[in-house]
Parts: sequence; C-alpha cells; structure tokens
Amino acid sequence: MGRFCVTVLLLLVAGFATHAAKLPSTFKRCHKSDPKFDDCLVVNIEDAIHQLKNGAPELGLDSFEPLLISELVIGEGSGPVNVQQNFKNVKLHGLTGSKVLSQKASLDQNMLFAQSVTPMLRLEADYDMKGRVLLLPVFGNGPCNVTLVNTKINHTLIGEPFERKGRTFLKWVDYKVTLRPEIVKFHFANLFNGDDRLGNEINRVINENWDAVFTDVRDGYEKSFGLIFKDLANRVFTRVPLKDIFLE
Ligand SMILES: *[C@@H]1O[C@H](CO)[C@@H](O)[C@H](O)[C@H]1NC(C)=O
Ligand SMILES: *[C@@H]1O[C@H](CO)[C@@H](O)[C@H](O)[C@H]1NC(C)=O
Repeated sequence: MGRFCVTVLLLLVAGFATHAAKLPSTFKRCHKSDPKFDDCLVVNIEDAIHQLKNGAPELGLDSFEPLLISELVIGEGSGPVNVQQNFKNVKLHGLTGSKVLSQKASLDQNMLFAQSVTPMLRLEADYDMKGRVLLLPVFGNGPCNVTLVNTKINHTLIGEPFERKGRTFLKWVDYKVTLRPEIVKFHFANLFNGDDRLGNEINRVINENWDAVFTDVRDGYEKSFGLIFKDLANRVFTRVPLKDIFLE
C-alpha cells in the first residue's frame, strides 16, 4: 500500500442552516409511490445538475460552472507516482454536463446508488510538486490542467436521518465514488523552473503513460470527489426537509 492522503477545502463553506430551505421551484420532484420512482429520479437529478450551472440562490449555492475548490491534495501512489500533487485555486469545469445513467434508491435504508458519465471534466489549478514520476525526477509549480474524458462515475451514498424543529432531514455520512475515465490528459506548465525542453518531455511521458499514472493515484481523486460531492449533496439535504425532496 502506498502512502496516501487527501485534503479538500471547498471555497463555498457550508453554513449549517438553522432555517429549513426549499428546493428551487424549477427542480422537479418524484413521488415515492411512483412505481417508476428510480427512473423519475434519474431524469430529475440530471435536470437539477444541469440547472446548477447557474447556481441555486434558494439553497445558497453558487454556480457550479466552474466549481471552485481552494485546495486539493492528491497523495503519492504506491506505483509510478512518487510525488504529492498540491493543487490550489482549483476550478473544476464540466460537472454540470453530467448525465445520470441509472439510479437505485433504498430510502428505507437511507441509501442511494447512482451511475453517471461526465463527458468532459477539466481541473485547472496552480500546482506545486516535487518528487518522481515513472522514476523521473519532477519538480515545479505553476498553472496546470488535468482533463478527464468520458468519465464513468459510481456514487454510493449512505445517510442518517435527523430531526430539527419537528422535521426530518437526511445527512449523507458516507459518499463513495469510483471513477473510470476513458482517457486523462495532463498539462503542467512551468516544470523545472520553466525549462521548456525538460518540461515538454515530462508532459509527453506522463501523457503517454496516462493510464498507469492515473490508476496509481485514482484513489486520491476518488476520495477527493467523494468529499466534494458529499458536501454539495448535504447543502441540499441538510436544509430541505426530506418529505419536500421525495414526495409521499
Ligand atoms: C488548459 O487548457 C486550456 C484549454 O485547452 C488551455 O487554454 C490552457 O492554456 C491550458 N492551461 C495549461 C496551464 O495547460
Ligand atoms: C459501477 O458499478 C457497476 C455495477 O456494480 C460496475 O459494473 C461498474 O464497473 C462500476 N463502474 C465504475 C465507474 O466503478
């Protein structure tokens, strides 16, 4: 097992609401009694994600396009990636273009499982790293891009209900993510204090071996996305009473 750590700091810090909020009126809802409840959620969750392009002031959510994350640390892998990647001022583009492929809610057990695909997910950030990749020494800091193309994502959510002022809410306590991109493209500018020849060479080698490189640190990306998605989901669920999300 490689050493491994994840830190994520979201810019939009969640103030834990004391007042119940309402879903935006443009969000469509599903009835639990609907025999096609799961199919209904597939359509409505995807629609809500697309709408979040413009944010949702009712829920105190800023635009998700891009989603701003102040800090994200992807730890070393146990294989070819012997470097900790520190990202700051992260802009995550493309989340609102996600499609929901399937969804299975087990509401009596407070569980939800969903599969989605995001055509283009681009992380732009200021990076800082020093270590080795594929045995080659790398160091540098500057702007970077990590682009994940056609990424299949599985979401497994486990929640705990809680009461506030006589109303029932759900808090997601566990949000597991698995990611399977079709291809990942990396670009780190200003490697080796701006030595373009060496920098281009390293970018070329990393991209030629993107699968081995990404697979080695995928755990870190999955844990980071899990934390980000959990935080976003809880901004809705801990503020809107459960019976106003899933209708009787
Ligand atoms: C990131 O990608 C965008 C779009 O392809 C490009 O305009 C930009 O220059 C890239 N930035 C870096 C640091 O590679
Ligand atoms: C998602 O789960 C399904 C069913 O267990 C599995 O076949 C698929 O490979 C998983 N996909 C990802 C992206 O983990």
